[in-house]
Amino acid sequence: MTRIGFAFNQKPDPAAFETSRRGAGASSSPGIDCSEHPSPSIDQFAEWDSPETIDAVESALSAYGEVIRLEATLDFPEKLRAARPDIVFNIAEGLNGRNRESHVPAICEFLGVPYTGSDPFTLTLCLDKARAKEALAYNQVPTPRFVVIRTVAQIRSALDRLTYPVFVKPVHEGSSKGITEANYCRTPTDLMVRASELLAEYDQPVIAEEFLPGAEFTCGILGNGDKARVLPLVAINFGALPAGAVPIYGFEAKWIWDVPENPLQIFECPAKIDLPLQRWIERVTLDAYNVTGCRDWARIDVRIDSAGVPNVIEINPLPGILPNPEENSCLPKAARAAGIGYDELIQSCLLAGAERCGLALSRRHSSVAA
Ligand SMILES: Nc1ncnc2c1ncn2[C@@H]1O[C@H](COP(=O)(O)OP(=O)(O)OP(=O)(O)O)[C@@H](O)[C@H]1O
Ligand SMILES: [Mg+2]
Repeated sequence: MTRIGFAFNQKPDPAAFETSRRGAGASSSPGIDCSEHPSPSIDQFAEWDSPETIDAVESALSAYGEVIRLEATLDFPEKLRAARPDIVFNIAEGLNGRNRESHVPAICEFLGVPYTGSDPFTLTLCLDKARAKEALAYNQVPTPRFVVIRTVAQIRSALDRLTYPVFVKPVHEGSSKGITEANYCRTPTDLMVRASELLAEYDQPVIAEEFLPGAEFTCGILGNGDKARVLPLVAINFGALPAGAVPIYGFEAKWIWDVPENPLQIFECPAKIDLPLQRWIERVTLDAYNVTGCRDWARIDVRIDSAGVPNVIEINPLPGILPNPEENSCLPKAARAAGIGYDELIQSCLLAGAERCGLALSRRHSSVAA
């Protein structure tokens, strides 16, 4: 039977995490050895997956073989060697540093184990918003003009290099960490203040980008080469934000205003747009996917500039995949709009990765009871 390794990072339980953090590295959360990582905060795990997501992915994978859980803890290399899977299904976000998403795929490559999703180079490239934009711009994929600011001393020289309003963000974070309404800078003074705060708080460079005022879309892709296809587009409905809010899908919209008791009606899927614009966005999305070397699946954020041109804001080669349809998770939502259920979405990624690696997979059992 096919052996499917499943690599993931599970969000620690907040209470257990606090106890372990205070306990000089005696972690009760498996694999979070605080003696090896300087003062992690619970925020660091925002991108990690919940037990519900991990169970749902495991269940979907099990249709194609025996699933071996390989939590991406410090002993991941030993566990992977011992498990000897035919393929690893990878959703591990990693812990520290700008190469964190690449650690699991790099270990798989080192040990010669095939795995799903993008390779270490692409994961690191896309996690660095500035480097990813350089690759896009060089290849004529539209992306907003930008400046990288590495130190407080560099802010002043950046102030007059862009047209305002400007949007500033940490260069290698995701899930809108460090992206709030305050990042919208109407003036050089705003940029001076917010860039200084972000440099101090996130201990990494920031990028200042020209703000795109048009509609925003997030676009899921499944598959590779000629078979890569863009799923129905998800439009961001800024009308759902509180009156007077800056039109961005940032920290407040993702983590404060969107609560399970009162979900923000922030997505429209399929997006109601005319066909030529839809095709244009799909083309830009596929170009970004190919230029950055994404594989099997990804989610790409696109926003329209003042001239009506779709621009790529960001590429997510490890897309969020919350299983609960009530929760705002774009890729599963886009897949549903295409008639692809959650299990089939996960399995499509598995099959695309297996095909790429020359591995033939077949269904283990029918979902119809015998
Ligand atoms: N140049 C820009 N112009 C207009 N809006 C922008 C720009 N850059 C970012 N935004 C807004 O901020 C949001 C978050 O930015 P971005 O997608 O780069 O961050 P992220 O936190 O990595 O996102 P994700 O949660 O998708 O990983 C975007 O969805 C968009 O609404
Ligand atoms: Mg984004």
